[in-house]
Amino acid sequence: MARLAATGAQEDIRLYLAKLVRRYRSSDPVLAAKLEDALKRTAAASGRGAAVLRADTGSTLRSQAIPPVDRDSRLSLVRMFDDRGGIEPPLLPADVLSQLEAVVAERRNVELLERRGLRATKSLAFVGPPGVGKTLSARWLAVQLAKPLWVLDLTAVMSSLLGRTGHNLRSVFDYAREQEAILLLDEFDAIAKRRGDDSDVGEIKRVVTVMLQEIEDWPAKSMLIAATNHQEMVDPALWRRFDAVVHFQNPTQQSIASAIRRFMGADADAFDRLVDPMAWIFSGQTLSDVERAIGQLRRRLALSAITPREALQAMLDERIPPLKKSERLHLAIAWAQSGVFSHSEINEITGVSRDTIRKHAGPANRVGRRRRK
Ligand SMILES: Nc1ncnc2c1ncn2[C@@H]1O[C@H](COP(=O)(O)OP(=O)(O)OP(=O)(O)O)[C@@H](O)[C@H]1O
Ligand SMILES: [Mg+2]
Repeated sequence: MARLAATGAQEDIRLYLAKLVRRYRSSDPVLAAKLEDALKRTAAASGRGAAVLRADTGSTLRSQAIPPVDRDSRLSLVRMFDDRGGIEPPLLPADVLSQLEAVVAERRNVELLERRGLRATKSLAFVGPPGVGKTLSARWLAVQLAKPLWVLDLTAVMSSLLGRTGHNLRSVFDYAREQEAILLLDEFDAIAKRRGDDSDVGEIKRVVTVMLQEIEDWPAKSMLIAATNHQEMVDPALWRRFDAVVHFQNPTQQSIASAIRRFMGADADAFDRLVDPMAWIFSGQTLSDVERAIGQLRRRLALSAITPREALQAMLDERIPPLKKSERLHLAIAWAQSGVFSHSEINEITGVSRDTIRKHAGPANRVGRRRRK
């Protein structure tokens, strides 16, 4: 707050205050009331009191800088990601990343496109399982395009009283449009239920109608991204209206290894040759899982006098037991072939017998054994 005040960023201060009011409203209502009071005073001082108060009660939201809230629950309808500090590109297969890069390139060459009567991509649909980088990719796009990223908070919108969902949706779209922001509609399947659904009420129909209109009218300067784990649940009429669909998948062995190196941060060097063997134990998992496990491992390494190898060992002790027999064998063979562990170490860690390892992976790799850490 002091930093904002020092730079005289009045509008940012008001936004930040509004955020704090929302954050503390339930946990510390007294503090929230004081903050709200302060907010009203800054608003009055800047001559925009009326606008702020209106936003706070959730009515007309055009031409206001305060994000929309639900009138009854007072929950904020959108969340903002502030990645102005920069963000590393998501680790994605080359074809997926190049799809995203193409979108950025189009935005940077809008005039060139316009001269040929073309318009840049303005709406994207992200499909894929949880934890594979859909939200992260939206954040990265926002940074590349130097735009704020607003995420539609579905819980708030859907929990709004019957009849208000459409209104709330419109206020979110209005707000994002006005800010020329990137708007991420997360869990799109939940809002965009098939029109023929059994639970179909008039409300869902209205919501879909609002959506159809909003997507259609979405301005070229902003970007609309819808993310879902279940494309099949989304009304095809809605789906068709997006300019491009990007399919996200569970990470490959190679992206898992890159992710481990990235999440290792300052500890990456210490683990160097252990990274590939480590990547095997995350097969079939998401980078979100990898991030969590590596975080644990680094904390363990930081707080106890153990070597990287021992930290890895501790991680394996937790992760190997639930593996199926065939998965352990797979792991044992991969490790034997990489030469990072000796056969007897592999036997100790995985429980796969040395004979079995030798049978599948060939004799122990002496060069590898000598080079190991
Ligand atoms: N492709 C990736 N590259 C780098 N980090 C990733 C990637 N995928 C996931 N992560 C890590 O996992 C975290 C969660 O990923 P993210 O929120 O983007 O998943 P999501 O696909 O949006 O999942 P959901 O469907 O549950 O919303 C990220 O913040 C990041 O740290
Ligand atoms: Mg997400």
